[in-house]
Amino acid sequence: MALQNSNFMIRLSDNVLMVNDMAGLVSRLRRRIPGFASVGVLTDRNVEETVIEQTGLLQKISSSAHMSVVKPGEASKSLTVVEQLSQEWLEAGMDRNSLIINIGGGVVSDLGGFAASIFKRGIRFINIPTTLLSMIDASVGGKTGVNLGGAKNQIGTFSRADEVIIWTGFLKWLPSRELKSGFAECLKHAFLQGGEALRLVNHGLPADPATLASLVEASVKFKDSVVNADLYEIGQRKILNFGHTVGHAFESASLLANAEPWLHGEAVAAGMLVALRLSVRVAGLSPDFAAKWEEFILNNFSIPKTCGMTSMSLMQFLRYDKKNVGNSLRFVLLKEPGMPLFDQEIAAESVREEVELVLSLLS
Ligand SMILES: NC(=O)c1ccc[n+]([C@@H]2O[C@H](COP(=O)([O-])OP(=O)(O)OC[C@H]3O[C@@H](n4cnc5c(N)ncnc54)[C@H](O)[C@@H]3O)[C@@H](O)[C@H]2O)c1
Repeated sequence: MALQNSNFMIRLSDNVLMVNDMAGLVSRLRRRIPGFASVGVLTDRNVEETVIEQTGLLQKISSSAHMSVVKPGEASKSLTVVEQLSQEWLEAGMDRNSLIINIGGGVVSDLGGFAASIFKRGIRFINIPTTLLSMIDASVGGKTGVNLGGAKNQIGTFSRADEVIIWTGFLKWLPSRELKSGFAECLKHAFLQGGEALRLVNHGLPADPATLASLVEASVKFKDSVVNADLYEIGQRKILNFGHTVGHAFESASLLANAEPWLHGEAVAAGMLVALRLSVRVAGLSPDFAAKWEEFILNNFSIPKTCGMTSMSLMQFLRYDKKNVGNSLRFVLLKEPGMPLFDQEIAAESVREEVELVLSLLS
């Protein structure tokens, strides 16, 4: 589809739009909603109390939408919550001609996208991401899902949002820890692209809203180009898992630990520390490059303390990783910036050694 821009929005891809202001967002939604018999809005309590109340978004788009509000946080990504939501939607009379609008971070788009993709065998949904991470990553790309037994994203579908509408103005309410978490995925995209993309992130998280919006635009376009070439992650899309193999293990371990759970981006930042080291070890990445960016990650992401995590406990989580086949551990590595390699099999003991070293950097 041709990319059509207007004074209030630019089209970043066939299903991703970026609007300049609240009026642009409202105008776009008002154009979409009349095509559906009923509308359900899903959000979490924090987003409802900050973003939705402050902007009056719901009153501006629909007075009759059925509103569902879940608890903020990973615990809402569960089959139990999917069942509760589906029950609510049934009772609200929603059917195959209903639309779900997910307003929130990655938890809301993963949960709402998954529930919509299986409700009545699949109904349409729009994502309105309100965190940096969901703008550049979670809400784009068509992966939905929930956690199972403490392990991340074990149940899910590939199901693309009808539309993703990004307004970076929402980020003014986002706590800085959450902003940094999203910036980790921007950094991942930059490692995968190299060149100009790495220069864009070199100075850390942009404080200026216009520069941040440009970073979001570039990051979304990159993710979308990778996803479009391989929606079902048979090949090249696997590169987007850079830092995620061990990242998911850190994230899962922190959910069980007796401390504040790590944010997704914090876990990915820690996972990239391991992936950079493994890249030097087996893929020929320059040690100077890895050392420079290791320091950057340690200085820019305030990764939480590891609270009793051990290399052995983290290795336990790696066996759940969907990228592994049998007992081998598969990684995305960097040969050079902009030159990722996927399906790189690495001996578990080498991984454990690097995890151990990274744990010592973080403790
Ligand atoms: N499907 C995918 O491709 C994909 C990719 C990356 C991550 N994810 C998933 O995304 C989730 C993490 O997403 P996230 O980082 O957006 O976290 P999140 O959805 O938990 O949101 C972070 C916190 O910020 C609050 N919040 C959201 N927007 C706000 C705003 N504008 N102002 C103030 N508070 C706001 C939320 O209530 C929440 O407390 C994880 O579950 C991860 O697995 C999915």
